[in-house]
Amino acid sequence: MTLVPLSPRLHRVLGINAPIVQSGMAGVAVPALVAAVSNAGGLGVIASLRLPPDAVRSAIQDVRALTSRPFGVNIWLHDDVRTSPDPDAIPDDVVRGAQAVLNHFRPRFDLDTQLDRPPPANDLVDAALDVMVDERIPVFSAGLGIPEPELVERFHRVGTKVVCMVAGVEDAVGAVANGADVVVAQGSEAGGHRSHGTKLERQTAMQSSTTELVAAVVDAVGGEVPVLAAGGIVDGRGLAAMIRLGSDGVLLGTRFVATKESGASALWKKRLTTGDRTTSFTDGFTGQWARVLTSEFTDEWEASGAEALPGLLQAAAGQDLFNAAKKLGDDQLQPLYAGAAAGRLHDIPSAADVIYDIVTEAQAALDSD
Ligand SMILES: Cc1cc2nc3c(=O)[nH]c(=O)nc-3n(C[C@H](O)[C@H](O)[C@H](O)COP(=O)(O)O)c2cc1C
Repeated sequence: MTLVPLSPRLHRVLGINAPIVQSGMAGVAVPALVAAVSNAGGLGVIASLRLPPDAVRSAIQDVRALTSRPFGVNIWLHDDVRTSPDPDAIPDDVVRGAQAVLNHFRPRFDLDTQLDRPPPANDLVDAALDVMVDERIPVFSAGLGIPEPELVERFHRVGTKVVCMVAGVEDAVGAVANGADVVVAQGSEAGGHRSHGTKLERQTAMQSSTTELVAAVVDAVGGEVPVLAAGGIVDGRGLAAMIRLGSDGVLLGTRFVATKESGASALWKKRLTTGDRTTSFTDGFTGQWARVLTSEFTDEWEASGAEALPGLLQAAAGQDLFNAAKKLGDDQLQPLYAGAAAGRLHDIPSAADVIYDIVTEAQAALDSD
């Protein structure tokens, strides 16, 4: 199948025919998914957050064994993830408040009550970046923070293109000033975490919608670099709408979670494609703002008014509970990340079918304009 590039400049920069990038997603974007997306003409992206350097290298090697097409590797550049906060600096009442919510649910899995702060996290981001440069990956994908000029330069020196996801216009301008080759405008409908490099107040973090942000980012930097739209896009009509808004293509997360090759659990795929798909905005699972399927946990966390532990220490504090829920197939006590358009998913196709269907549907819509 040969797809006519919908965006010639995106094709020139990233070497892809289908203007569809698959988001890096921990545990979901396994090599089989990444390679399937790239082989179908899009850009598959490995997620390397929290992976030790040898695991980043083997994921890259696994993808290379499955495709000769361009692919990317994603990581967060968030201030509190690159250098993890000191758990001892967290006030006692914040630890107590967060643990109280987790303790409310621990008896469900016979887990012990916890009152302590979590241990310090390892800083793995810079080591992962070193592996990416060493491996001369085709594309580096930055989320939750913009890469500094020196980092962009390191990638450019080895022939790697830099894609940067932002949730605000100022970051889009900053990313391009720092040398990014492609900007992704992530609207608040997006599944997963909001792409800010530092923790913001809830109301600010929830700004802006995809249509609002994409138009603003296209106006600000679209004359210089290709712009991709992200957040709540699941089909060809969505891609066509984003192209009409002036973007060069889309980055999809939730649609690819519910595919055959995705590493997501069968339970997660089922929850994304059937029944109630209401989503909530919470920092109770990791410490950073994210959109997930609404659950007993998100409701309880919200009602408690508890403050999340900083960086990713909230994830570390709740690890026993969230892992037990995952292991036992409890959909109420684990983060099932989902975009606001999850309610429009009804099937679990292959990644290649997703790309083919979206591109052909968008082409037909644009041709009839
Ligand atoms: C399960 C899941 C995991 C995600 N993990 C990451 C990640 O590791 N890095 C990143 O930059 N973005 C991540 N995202 C956010 C996506 O990059 C993207 O902004 C979002 O998925 C787009 O909205 P959509 O889910 O409605 O398609 C994740 C999204 C989901 C759904």
